[in-house]
Amino acid sequence: MLTNRRNFIFRVSIVINIAVLLYAAMHLSGSNPPGVEWVPITVDGSERSAEMRLVRDDVRNDSEMRTAESSVRSFEESTSQKTPSTMPTTNKTASSTASIADIEKTMKSQDTSSDADLPIETLLDIVDENALSDTTLARLRTLLSCNDKDFLPEYLQRGEFWVLKNYVRADHGTILCHETITYTTHAGFEFLDNVLPLVERWMAPVSLAIHAPGADLMPTVNSIRYLRDCSGNDLIRQFVTFHVFFSNKHIPSNIPNPNSFLTTAYNCTVPAPFSNVNVSATYKKQKGLLYPVNVARNIARDAALTHYVLASDIELYPSPNLVPRFLNMIARNANPLNNSINPRIFPISIFEVDAKVQVPSTKTELQAMLANKTAIPFHKYVCPDCHNIPEGQHWMKATETSQMDVFHVGKRQKKFVHWEPIFIGTHQDPHYDDRLSWEGKKDKMTQGYILCVQNYDFMILNNAFLTHKPGIKHYVKDAKRDQIAAKQTSFVNKVIMPEIKKLFGTRPGCAL
Ligand SMILES: *[C@@H]1O[C@H](CO)[C@@H](O)[C@H](O)[C@H]1NC(C)=O
Ligand SMILES: *[C@@H]1O[C@H](CO)[C@@H](O)[C@H](O)[C@H]1NC(C)=O
Ligand SMILES: *[C@@H]1O[C@H](CO)[C@@H](O)[C@H](O)[C@H]1NC(C)=O
Ligand SMILES: *[C@@H]1O[C@H](CO)[C@@H](O)[C@H](O)[C@H]1NC(C)=O
Ligand SMILES: *[C@@H]1O[C@H](CO)[C@@H](O)[C@H](O)[C@H]1NC(C)=O
Ligand SMILES: *[C@@H]1O[C@H](CO)[C@@H](O)[C@H](O)[C@H]1NC(C)=O
Repeated sequence: MLTNRRNFIFRVSIVINIAVLLYAAMHLSGSNPPGVEWVPITVDGSERSAEMRLVRDDVRNDSEMRTAESSVRSFEESTSQKTPSTMPTTNKTASSTASIADIEKTMKSQDTSSDADLPIETLLDIVDENALSDTTLARLRTLLSCNDKDFLPEYLQRGEFWVLKNYVRADHGTILCHETITYTTHAGFEFLDNVLPLVERWMAPVSLAIHAPGADLMPTVNSIRYLRDCSGNDLIRQFVTFHVFFSNKHIPSNIPNPNSFLTTAYNCTVPAPFSNVNVSATYKKQKGLLYPVNVARNIARDAALTHYVLASDIELYPSPNLVPRFLNMIARNANPLNNSINPRIFPISIFEVDAKVQVPSTKTELQAMLANKTAIPFHKYVCPDCHNIPEGQHWMKATETSQMDVFHVGKRQKKFVHWEPIFIGTHQDPHYDDRLSWEGKKDKMTQGYILCVQNYDFMILNNAFLTHKPGIKHYVKDAKRDQIAAKQTSFVNKVIMPEIKKLFGTRPGCAL
């Protein structure tokens, strides 16, 4: 039995070596695309590099090396337990038959083999920045060493709020924490028209917390049903998970059970429940409730299944392909990512566009729109300094490149001491203060202050950007809101800041 097996392994390795030689010959004779260079096989590295190449070909072209591939596959089956294949979240992350564990082993052993000299793009099989190869995924798994979470509905409490976490779940099934990024966001039902354009550009999981006190729950449920059944495509069903929450003083009189309402198709001939909402007739407005924006943000973030999250506002649409491009950048782990001991976040530049124009899809298109003034930096006319980004002028001039990289490493200091960035971060980053309302303004400042005190690096991404739903905002005076804002500012200074200083200490150059 054992001898048989040795013979078999020996035969397999011959097949592999022949396959590699054929592969090499093919590539030497053809014109090589850049980044797919041939490297001589050394004695001890031969089997590993062969395995790498087979994995790569497995992804790139299934038929090219079917013979060799199938030998390896049966070898794998006889020596290792198959890990159950994971449910692909998008076509982009769809995995081949090679198991993550096997590739991970190969990646780990790279350090000691001659393949360590290969360019990282070759090792990771990054042939398309908008897709994630199996090798890249395996590398991410190792680099991030994150924990996968379960994905179950739950009733929980957060201060005075009841939270129906995972009230309506996306159909994506199991998500591994390293394989994608979650856009975490929040809204009242009247903002749900943004969900479709958002998910069409993000094409990855969205965790959405909806504030639905009292009678606002009914139109919220109808909106969720409308979005899932009447949007004309499956993206919302596939990617968006809805949480609802309300104060314990405003519990809805009837809380529909998703298990029953999701089994009946919604009547799509009625208008969308979130279109043309008379806001003054909502339960929230009638009762004069404030919008607990940070409770909502924290609920959405805490429920995300992935290591990386983009905590954003629902009207900010991301540039396409952000998720795979970002993860390929992380997997490459080049400067300055591999070269910094500070905690880090990845801020994304934000823009507004004219009500009559399309949201730009690429940085190049955005630059043309900035040039003819159909696009402007975010809140230029509302609060010009709030969203200024270090090296922002330089960013707007810099030409779009073929891959995502860190454009500049900034700090929340000096001219940017009040910066409230929107960024890709992780569950380790400071939360938002649950006690602050949207009406009170500056609701992200305390988080920004903690980031500064903890000496975070703000690694600004080069080609990625967020575009606000079309329509350029101008400053409008709102006396009532200013009153609430004054109260909140005083609460932050008198109560929250002393707490934060006790908990996190201080650092010269940091301010609220
Ligand atoms: C894969 O390779 C085979 C044989 O070389 C070729 O006929 C086929 O067109 C290739 N398929 C793709 C998708 O490149
Ligand atoms: C996945 O690919 C199939 C077939 O190419 C296509 O019909 C489907 O729309 C794609 N889904 C996504 C989410 O891109
Ligand atoms: C859907 O709503 C429309 C308009 O209210 C109504 O005419 C139609 O009968 C409804 N369809 C069903 C199947 O209930
Ligand atoms: C909106 O709702 C308020 C309060 O119920 C009502 O007074 C007002 O007439 C409504 N406006 C419209 C346009 O329906
Ligand atoms: C970081 O990555 C760059 C590019 O891949 C490499 O040249 C450099 O040596 C790495 N630095 C460290 C400290 O590993
Ligand atoms: C501004 O530039 C964009 C992108 O090139 C273009 O689509 C749009 O038509 C231009 N608008 C005006 C008013 O020139």
